[in-house]
Amino acid sequence: MLAGKRILLIIGGGIAAYKCCELIRLLRGRGAAVTPVLTAAAAEFVTPLTVSSLAGEAAHGDLFDLTREAEIGHIQLSRAADLVVVAPATADLMAKMAGGLANDLASTLLLATDKRVLLAPAMNVRMWEHPATQRNLARLRADGILFAGPNEGDMACGEFGPGRMAEPAEIVAAIDAALTDGPLKGRHILVTSGPTHEPIDPVRYIANRSSGAQGTALAAALRDLGARVSFVTGPADVAPPPGVTVIRVETAREMLSAVQAALPADAAVFAAAVADWRVANAAGQKMKKDGSGRMPVLDFAENPDILATVSQMTQGRPRLVVGFAAETHEVERHARDKRARKGCDWIVANDVSPATGIMGGSENAVTIIDAEGTECWERMSKSEVARRLAARIASKLGETA
Ligand code: CTP
Repeated sequence: MLAGKRILLIIGGGIAAYKCCELIRLLRGRGAAVTPVLTAAAAEFVTPLTVSSLAGEAAHGDLFDLTREAEIGHIQLSRAADLVVVAPATADLMAKMAGGLANDLASTLLLATDKRVLLAPAMNVRMWEHPATQRNLARLRADGILFAGPNEGDMACGEFGPGRMAEPAEIVAAIDAALTDGPLKGRHILVTSGPTHEPIDPVRYIANRSSGAQGTALAAALRDLGARVSFVTGPADVAPPPGVTVIRVETAREMLSAVQAALPADAAVFAAAVADWRVANAAGQKMKKDGSGRMPVLDFAENPDILATVSQMTQGRPRLVVGFAAETHEVERHARDKRARKGCDWIVANDVSPATGIMGGSENAVTIIDAEGTECWERMSKSEVARRLAARIASKLGETA
């Protein structure tokens, strides 16, 4: 799938650098050529000899290597690639990129390139969560930099949390997606997915049965057609797909902010099962039984309607806004009303009454309602629904380009 492609792989100085050996092996196995570049710190973790043996090409490291400079030149090195990949992308490399610094070969290549750049960040959880790194992340995203990971999990430093580098196979999937010349190449599509959790107190919340399966399948299908996907997900059962930008949220209000921050987009698909209500009198401390035998009375406030907010934007509205309608009765009538009320272009309606087994299951039977009419699809797997829907979106965006 990557035959004939050249990846400029910049290896940053972190313990995850050892995973680059596997990454190079996987990339070469898929037919890609890999030009490795090591920062000075990276060479403390993996040797240039190991990396160049695996890549079958000399590893570059020094900006002022006169022989190499005469042969190829650092500008050309960055231009000859189809994609620039930074793995692990350390906090330091991200900061340099966000600030436009160029004081070694890696950062100079990153500033000089005219190709897409994909980062696989890896760092300690506190470094990842530090406001400076988060600021740099936001700036790099705004610059169109692609990201694979980081994942959440046990870290080499003994801590737990986000900051672990994506696995080599996930980075390869993201590289595949970045290099795919599908009909959605160059398009940015926003997808919401999963349930939201609305806190009652610090240990309890109100949730719903959405597993996030349909939204996740859709994000993967859009990615496979070449789209750059921003995936805003509540706490779902299924893991987000590789090769998309994942923004994790918990509440409806957080989801709205994340959606607004991820815009502009060519299309937005709202597959999340957003809680309509939040607890207005959520307690700051765990609610205790008071001995009266009565449950505390919860007061509810209406959550913002994310789909309606985006559908009704007067400026910067995505060209195509797709909502879902989860109904248990009179599916088509309710879905039609919902489309009119919220102002979206399409509604993908499904019957989520328990007998259908759709919510939390692997199949779906949907009806698409748009300005032209109603289209009923037979029952099929959620990934097939996702593929067909992604193709329909691609064709619509193709029409209105
Ligand atoms: N939606 C949203 N924000 C909300 C509620 C819903 O973005 N606060 C979106 C969902 O992602 C979905 C669509 O609106 O795309 C319809 O969601 P659904 O739960 O079926 O409808 P509701 O708006 O909750 O309407 P009702 O409660 O009347 O069924």
